[in-house]
Amino acid sequence: MATLDALVAEQVDPGAATSDAQASKLTLQTPQQLYELWERQHWLSQDIDFTQDKRDFANLTDEQKDNLIWVLSTFFIGEERVTTQFSGLVMAYEDEHEESFLTTQQVDEARHMQFFDRFYREVIGIDNPDFDARLDRVREELNEAFGKLFDEALVEAGQRLIADPSDREAKVEFITTYHMVIEGALALTGQNFVTRYMEENDIFPGFVEGFGNVARDEHRHVAYGTWWLQQNAGSDDALAERMQARLQELIPVAAGVLVPPGADPTEEWQILGYSSNEVNEFAFKSLSRRLKAIGVPLQGAPTPA
Ligand SMILES: [Fe+2]
Ligand SMILES: [Fe+2]
Repeated sequence: MATLDALVAEQVDPGAATSDAQASKLTLQTPQQLYELWERQHWLSQDIDFTQDKRDFANLTDEQKDNLIWVLSTFFIGEERVTTQFSGLVMAYEDEHEESFLTTQQVDEARHMQFFDRFYREVIGIDNPDFDARLDRVREELNEAFGKLFDEALVEAGQRLIADPSDREAKVEFITTYHMVIEGALALTGQNFVTRYMEENDIFPGFVEGFGNVARDEHRHVAYGTWWLQQNAGSDDALAERMQARLQELIPVAAGVLVPPGADPTEEWQILGYSSNEVNEFAFKSLSRRLKAIGVPLQGAPTPA
């Protein structure tokens, strides 16, 4: 991500701040401000140039190709899941500012899925003409934890909200699942390490450009989730308890999504050369900064100062 974009991310998402002190100084943006930011941060998935990426992919060893395809498949199918499962939250808007922001988030997720689809067709070479068939092929890469988080927990939370969009406990559970765990703890962590791997090896410039745009969108999404939870769970004990219980339930599941095939989740593992300790520490630090901004600690942790 370009330096200017990184600065913008730090200003909207406490999880992107580079220190606790900086995170605590941040004023959370309202849905109207985030909507206006969306208008200024527009980008086109069809404009990314993959010419060099095709050459770089051809030059990888078979093992490097397998590792990269595995990690990126989690993102590709993850973007498909979050696009289709977002409708319940759009129905649960409380005013026109929130309605405006939420519709931008749903179209962002579709754009992210389209970006990955282009990369898989044009660079990796999964070029079945049928979109569903391409998704089915990519799904073969995923592990059991992925299914638990994206096909069970996320889908069930969405269904509860669709059944009653005015149910605030359902909205807390949905936003905690989607914005805090899936986007905040999992996607932005994975994005950080995949981008570092590509930049350090000076490969896949098109993908790095597009993924930087995806990450900027995700910070805006997580900023909305942080704001909503602060406004609601931050001042209501029952909603705060719902949020804490959901985090306790799903953080271990999310930690399992990035464990590579064949690795023992209870042992130290590596992903694209980074250790599980490094990956988990990054995820935990950004989650704790967001929780501090919300004013609800992890269950059992002291109340944030
Ligand atoms: Fe996304
Ligand atoms: Fe998102």
